[in-house]
Amino acid sequence: MDTNKKNKIKEILDKMSLEQKVAQMMQIPYSVVGREKALEWAEKGAGSFLHVLGDNARELQETAIHSGQGIPVLFGIDAIHGHGLNENATIFPSQLALACSWNPELIEQMGKMTAREVAADGLHWTFSPVLCLGRDTRWGRIDETFGEDAYLAGELGAAMIKGYQGDDLRNPERILACAKHYIGYGEAVGGRDACDTEMTYRKLKDVFLPPFQKAVEAGCATFMTAYGSIDGEPFTASEKTLKEILRGELGFDGFVVTDWDNVNSLVSNQHVAADSKEATLLAAKAGNDMIMTSEAFYEAAIALVREGTLAETVIDEAVLHILTIKERMGLLECPQRKVPAEYIGCEEHLALNRRLADESVVLLKNEEILPLAANVKKIAVIGPNADDIRAQYGDWTYFTHPDPHPEHEPMRPYATVLEGIKEAAGADVTVSYAKGCAVKAADEDNLEEAVRMAKDSDVVVLVLGDMIEQAGETKDRADLALTGRQVELFDRIKETGKKLITVLVSSKPLCMTKIVEGSDAFLVSFNGGMFGGNAVANVISGKVNPSAKLPISFPRHSGQVPIYYNSLPGWHGGKYCDLPAEPLFTFGQGLSYSRFVYRDLAVTQKKDQLTLSVCVENVSERDGEEIVQVYFHDVVSSVMTPVKQLIRFEKVAVPAGMSKCVQFILRDSDFSLVNRQEQRVSEPGEVELMVGSSARDEDLQKTTITIA
Ligand code: BGC
Repeated sequence: MDTNKKNKIKEILDKMSLEQKVAQMMQIPYSVVGREKALEWAEKGAGSFLHVLGDNARELQETAIHSGQGIPVLFGIDAIHGHGLNENATIFPSQLALACSWNPELIEQMGKMTAREVAADGLHWTFSPVLCLGRDTRWGRIDETFGEDAYLAGELGAAMIKGYQGDDLRNPERILACAKHYIGYGEAVGGRDACDTEMTYRKLKDVFLPPFQKAVEAGCATFMTAYGSIDGEPFTASEKTLKEILRGELGFDGFVVTDWDNVNSLVSNQHVAADSKEATLLAAKAGNDMIMTSEAFYEAAIALVREGTLAETVIDEAVLHILTIKERMGLLECPQRKVPAEYIGCEEHLALNRRLADESVVLLKNEEILPLAANVKKIAVIGPNADDIRAQYGDWTYFTHPDPHPEHEPMRPYATVLEGIKEAAGADVTVSYAKGCAVKAADEDNLEEAVRMAKDSDVVVLVLGDMIEQAGETKDRADLALTGRQVELFDRIKETGKKLITVLVSSKPLCMTKIVEGSDAFLVSFNGGMFGGNAVANVISGKVNPSAKLPISFPRHSGQVPIYYNSLPGWHGGKYCDLPAEPLFTFGQGLSYSRFVYRDLAVTQKKDQLTLSVCVENVSERDGEEIVQVYFHDVVSSVMTPVKQLIRFEKVAVPAGMSKCVQFILRDSDFSLVNRQEQRVSEPGEVELMVGSSARDEDLQKTTITIA
């Protein structure tokens, strides 16, 4: 930052009282404290509010700029997959569903459009993206991740951040991104939300830090600390993660916000502080700049500075970080940014939403039944998630936050799977519907009706899955099997002998080996957003040629979890005596209506730059898109390294009967590891390169190179 701007911020800081400075560190939850208290906080100079929209936010801003030092407030919101807390906004597929597209360009666009909608509501900041990995699928927040792989998560996360923030934070249509939850949150033991992360720092840096590093490189303005702990230390109290690693090693220059009530939790949940003063001291010294919701921090921090226990410079540094971002946004000169309200839910955003939904449906099994033939005249759509927009949306919309509102009337436009299939069906096709059963067994379950309908059809589309009560914070699952009478419903439909297409609409992979084996086709549409139902219908009808690939593995059984493709090698094959070593579906898998053949794998090496090329031939009669994946394996390394690790991917459109050649530029740093001294290094020696259509060995071609 130039000296003038620095001086300007320093001048503001110098004029602030201690009370005003500490207030600047506070982020107040409007949805909890209500209007009156929020206005009082705005007068005191609170730095930020969360969960407040539109005119309520504008009123707070007016109050803030006419009080104290007149510093504008930042408004934060969980616009996780679109600005979903606003019922009129565009609700995109969940982050996990978006990840199935492996399409950074579209995800960047999604970020840009979400930013416009958030900004149109008078807000500045989204708590997104989530860069935790989805390795332990028992965890309730798998839907918020980009899946199990750090490389994919880093690429897609960086794209999303660029979309939210653009090149210039002064642009009123862009908003701040927030890389969260820093760090290791998804690794909580047993998949139990906000519990301890049993891990060494070496591994934390090796596997879980890279997506956050990419976030810093993408210019992410804010980071959010995780709820959990590592080696007996809550992340909120960790100078090592916040100062040494984040600011020191990664060079982060934005500000850090705690997660919800993290400071109080040091007392009430994690028991490393006896009272709010001790907790405040720990959190402030560790490097948290903004404090979400723990209001006791305010009095405690002031008292600590007054009595000489906490240096005022610690507070100053935090406030400088916050003011610097406000300055970079141009907020200090222009606190009320004007962005057209018409952006919210506009046609352009809906069009992108449809594309993303289409690109996020993963076809995983197809025994010559899809796309449906023209002689299919009667489709029975059955199952609990066939016509349930809440399940299709998943977490973080106006149905779930700030408080659950299951009774809320869903706002159009949207299409459930049933509606999508009806829309896509020709005039001479009859589409019938029976729910069959609920996701949780209910009195209204009516399997007989569903069986009758199936018998009277040419083909059944069975839509199973989970419900929003089974996804999100505090909703971890010990058992990932389908709940209620869903398996029984499948068995009964199967008995009819009708052709059966099973669709999973859920927040995460569920265990459904028998169901997949017994279905003629199987496709996954994680929470697909407004047009998730159209997207499923488009794939079934053949209007869209599926191109998505799994960003996460499907376990065969809950006992296999955590299961991910890039495990460290073990001795005994990694299998159980009652289950195979492999998951039901592996990272990277996904079918197309085209057929692709990989040819001419070649590598040329020049100094530290390596060019890998491969040609993909479409040997079918249908134009299609393939996601070419490059993995590597370090043959001998000083610490154990994964059996394979994704390092590049590219989505290529290949017309029928044609070939497309792809080139990947690789560098030594792509083959790096974190050694026992916790340093990232590239080691010389042999490296196996693998290229193909998924992480499964049988889908990969191999070649070996030597790194000097
Ligand atoms: C979640 C965060 C979220 C915050 C604000 C917390 O409970 O862990 O991801 O951004 O609430 O809503």
